[in-house]
Amino acid sequence: MTQPIKQHLIDPEICIRCYSCEMACPIGAIDHDDNNVVVDASKCDFCMSCIPVCPTGSIDEWRVVNEPYSMDDQFGFEELPAQEELAEGDTGDAEALDDAVAALLAEAHDGAGGKSKAPASAAKPAINLYNLGNPIVATVQGNYQLTHQAGDSDVHHIILNFEGKPFPVLEGQSLGIIPPGADADGKPHLPRLYSVSSPRDGERANYNNVSLTIKRDKNGLCSNYVCDLKQGDKVNVTGPFGATFLMPDDPAARLLMICTGTGSAPMRAFTLRRQRTLGGKSGGMTMFFGARTPQSLPYFGPLNKVPDSLLRKHLVFSRVPGAPKEYVQDRLIVEQDAVAELLLDPQTHIYICGLRGMEEGVEKAFTNIAESIGQPWQSLRDTMREEGRYHVETY
Ligand code: A2P
Repeated sequence: MTQPIKQHLIDPEICIRCYSCEMACPIGAIDHDDNNVVVDASKCDFCMSCIPVCPTGSIDEWRVVNEPYSMDDQFGFEELPAQEELAEGDTGDAEALDDAVAALLAEAHDGAGGKSKAPASAAKPAINLYNLGNPIVATVQGNYQLTHQAGDSDVHHIILNFEGKPFPVLEGQSLGIIPPGADADGKPHLPRLYSVSSPRDGERANYNNVSLTIKRDKNGLCSNYVCDLKQGDKVNVTGPFGATFLMPDDPAARLLMICTGTGSAPMRAFTLRRQRTLGGKSGGMTMFFGARTPQSLPYFGPLNKVPDSLLRKHLVFSRVPGAPKEYVQDRLIVEQDAVAELLLDPQTHIYICGLRGMEEGVEKAFTNIAESIGQPWQSLRDTMREEGRYHVETY
């Protein structure tokens, strides 16, 4: 008789097919076809490298099975199969495995090995309440153009209202939008993920609504759909997603936020949260925000009105005619004394969001600044990660 085994599966209704898990798997145990992303049970060794990189949590599915689902079975899944009934006495080994997998999962979620972790004081996020097969329908409350259409910069501020239905979301979380229509095979389009740019109590305080900050990509299916939405339109939404890029619920925590373009969405949510909860008190937030020009920097006007006591702002521009090109990492170096002081403070939480390319430049800047004060950056960063104080979301 075969012993039941624990099998790692991916929920096809929540997965947005970003393939991050496939790229993170060190042994090639994850594969995809046009339909699904799947895990090869004969290869998966439960190393958990794929768990923290998944933006939706669809990766976190486990079944105890007598016979593992084959790759072909999984490619055909429309939804996850229910846990099969096992014969009595068959679960002994599986239970032991369960404990081992739970321990590994805790480690993967807890940031061992440099993986991300939520701040200790963060509120508990709700995740995966709505999926592809069961989306929540939101109504468009507003769609405002944020940036002048200079070059290809067309960024919109979209407000979605959930009316009487629950959609609890914390600052730093994302949601999925399902574009209408079908793909070439006649299947519904998969959701696209966007960071929420409003705080937990709503774009308007105590209204059941959220805002998004979305840049039109001329060739993009979903960004064009969203940027063209009209007031009153209905939108299918999935999520909420994300359990680590969250803000500490501790007014003494200091936030160092580094972003480019629409990567400012979660930073706006953090800022509004503190603005609403701290009133006139010091906000302890510092922001380095890069855009091509002031005209293409989302929320340039409102951001400039946020008092310095709440948020110290460093807005840098790369394409202002007649001015030198400046990236966020260049300004970090210019401000190195202030940045060094933040790096040394155990109350500091770092958030980096935006273009993937900036990660390398920001890392180099932190390395130089940390070394100038006799701190090896890698170990400082690893400590911050382990303590849920270092968060990166780039695309
Ligand atoms: P640039 O495109 O002039 O090189 P976007 O408008 O595409 O969202 O970009 C936001 C800002 O991020 C722009 O100023 C852009 O500069 C800048 N940027 C591009 N690459 C990097 C990088 N590797 N590091 C930091 N900033 C970058």
